[in-house]
Amino acid sequence: MGKDTFEKELLERASHAEDILKRYMPSEEGYAATVIEAMNYSLLAGGKRLRPVMMLEAYRLFAGADCDENVVAPFAAAMEMVHTYSLVHDDLPAMDNDEYRRGRKTTHAVYGAGMATLAGDGLLNLAFETAIMGASSGKELSAYDGDTTNRYIAALNVFAKKAGICGMIGGQCADIMSENSSESDTEKMKDVLHYIDENKTGALIEASLMVGAILGGATKTQVDLMEKAGSNVGIAFQIQDDILDIVSTSEELGKPVGSDEKNNKMTYVSLYGMEQSRNRVKELSIEAENILAGLGFEDSFLKGLFEYLIYRKK
Ligand code: IPE
Ligand code: IPE
Ligand code: MG
Ligand code: MG
Ligand code: MG
Repeated sequence: MGKDTFEKELLERASHAEDILKRYMPSEEGYAATVIEAMNYSLLAGGKRLRPVMMLEAYRLFAGADCDENVVAPFAAAMEMVHTYSLVHDDLPAMDNDEYRRGRKTTHAVYGAGMATLAGDGLLNLAFETAIMGASSGKELSAYDGDTTNRYIAALNVFAKKAGICGMIGGQCADIMSENSSESDTEKMKDVLHYIDENKTGALIEASLMVGAILGGATKTQVDLMEKAGSNVGIAFQIQDDILDIVSTSEELGKPVGSDEKNNKMTYVSLYGMEQSRNRVKELSIEAENILAGLGFEDSFLKGLFEYLIYRKK
């Protein structure tokens, strides 16, 4: 697929993921209307929707002829809700203190820090309400060969773990702890940075691929390979985010540049320099593509997406 055709296809898929998301968004009524409005404001601000796109495609690849999008749709919406909550909280004055996100004022800049905190909490809960509803009403799936035979429970388990202290929240914790760090042991710093990137960003990308695979009928071995591919892509994605924070513009990104420097963050670029960072993005993405090829998906849209992420500009 050529670059232009691929980008057109990606936009179409993102728009489809957004249509799915809209189906599960709450209506703004009652005494909780303000927090719901803040949640919907954050959700609809217009992200790239990469995680639900990845999940839907991973599902499609494994489900083949058994593909029924209703099985994965609530999980795809739930993933975008968790990702969005992570951004709303990440931007708070007590965290990265950023004013713009997805081309608009951040949630706390519009609704205040208290309401933005609640909007993030609300999105996190709604994500689980949505995924659990999907799990309890979806069609029957084949037995899974992991810790549980129930594919819906296995998917919920991955989703919960990767969003939590052993995943995204753990990574955000180490990210905050690394600010203004006086650590001088370079090996230790590299180790912590790897943990940060693998968890704050890698975990939700891994989960997107794994949940899609589990619901689509993959074996435990195949799910483990998707996890590894997701880890590589996720770390590459965060390194590229750190690069763009330096070389891009706020117009292109829809969020401020220079945020990492402002907060004295430890990033791949601050530790390894720009050239090594760019090389690492390529290496990691190629490793991920090789894993996909090993699974028999070398001509897939997903492989194109992994490739596209290396050169992404926003
Ligand atoms: C931003 O994620 C936060 C990181 C993990 C680097 P995205 O770049 O996917 O943000 P949206 O969803 O498109 O806004
Ligand atoms: C945040 O990393 C990753 C999350 C879990 C939200 P960053 O702080 O670098 O993300 P941006 O640059 O604000 O999107
Ligand atoms: Mg941050
Ligand atoms: Mg940030
Ligand atoms: Mg960043």
